[in-house]
Order: sequence, then C-alpha cells, then structure tokens
Amino acid sequence: MEITFITSNAGKVREAANYLEPLGVRVVQRHVPYPEIQADTLEEVARYGVEWLSRRIDGNFFIEDSGLFINALSGFPGVYSAYVYRTVGLKGVLKLMEDSDDRRASFRSVIAYWDGEPHVFKGEVRGEITRELRGSGGFGFDPIFKPEGFSKTFAEMSVEEKNRVSHRGAALRLFCRWLKENLK
Ligand code: IMP
Repeated sequence: MEITFITSNAGKVREAANYLEPLGVRVVQRHVPYPEIQADTLEEVARYGVEWLSRRIDGNFFIEDSGLFINALSGFPGVYSAYVYRTVGLKGVLKLMEDSDDRRASFRSVIAYWDGEPHVFKGEVRGEITRELRGSGGFGFDPIFKPEGFSKTFAEMSVEEKNRVSHRGAALRLFCRWLKENLK
C-alpha cells in the first residue's frame, strides 16, 4: 500500500520511509503547499493543515509539523522554527545563545494523518544546543542539537540512529503502531 506524505522536505521523507516501509507501506512524497497558521502549538498548526488539505486532495495522506523549543529562550523558536531557520539560521541561533549556560532544548513533532478524519501522533526528544555546528547529515537544526545521553549531534548520526531517539521517530512509532492495528 501507498501513503502520501505531503511535505517539501526530503529528509523527513527518508525518516518516515525508514519506519513505514518495513510495514509494507510505500511513502510517496508530494509537495502541496498548505497554510501554516500562526498558533501556539504544533498540534493546532498540523490539525488546520490536514483539514485544509483534505478538502483539496483525494486519498489517505499525512503531514508532519515540528519545531525546536529552547528553554533559555522561553520555548523560541517553537512554532516559528521554519521561519527562524530560513532567516537567522543556525549561526544566528548560536549567537542568540552565546551568553547562555542553560543549553537545554527539545524537538517536538506532530504527525497528522487523514483517512476521512484526522489522527494525531506526537513525539518529543530532550537535548541541548551545542556551542558550534557539528556533522553534515540530517537537515535543519540537526548540526546544533545533541540529544540527551548522546555525544553526537543529530547531524552526526545515521538516519536509523536519529530515528531511534528523535521526536519524529517517536511520533512515527505511534503512527506505525496505529497503522498496524487499523489498516485492513
Ligand atoms: P516544519 O515542520 O517543516 O515547519 O519544520 C520546522 C523547522 O524545524 C524547519 O526549519 C526544519 O528544518 C526544522 N526541523 C524539523 N525537524 C527537524 C529535525 O529533525 N532536525 C532538525 N531540524 C528540524
């Protein structure tokens, strides 16, 4: 069976395929821009997006919305992560954190799957913001995020290693468990 992943991010598709393909589910990437509303939580953004898309595309599909929440910045960039990544970038985030000894941060992920109604799966990973960029794998903020209990950043890990600990991996595990129980 095929499930469409509506995203422009090939890195997210690689991570999702790593989980779903062993279940016999082929992940097909489709890029359909959809509104990311200004809201306080990723869940609100994902729910709005999936409902909006359901009126425009046929079949089952999912989207995923994620963000980096930095303790010393009161959770910023959070729901604004994509904008901050595009504007100030990784170096800009390190600069904002320059004087902070509190490096704690977490990544959160919300998957919203549509099969006639929305189903939401969430994951989170705690970690810290490094003092410099490390590694060339992954995407986005991976070179500056080191998950708790590991010495490597996400960008220094393979897709499999990152999936085992990441926010998206945690949401994907819940999604997979649900699919196994609910796919006929
Ligand atoms: P969005 O979910 O595509 O809106 O992503 C929000 C922002 O967080 C984007 O700039 C992504 O590159 C970044 N991001 C999301 N997930 C990850 C991740 O697993 N690692 C690093 N950056 C991420």
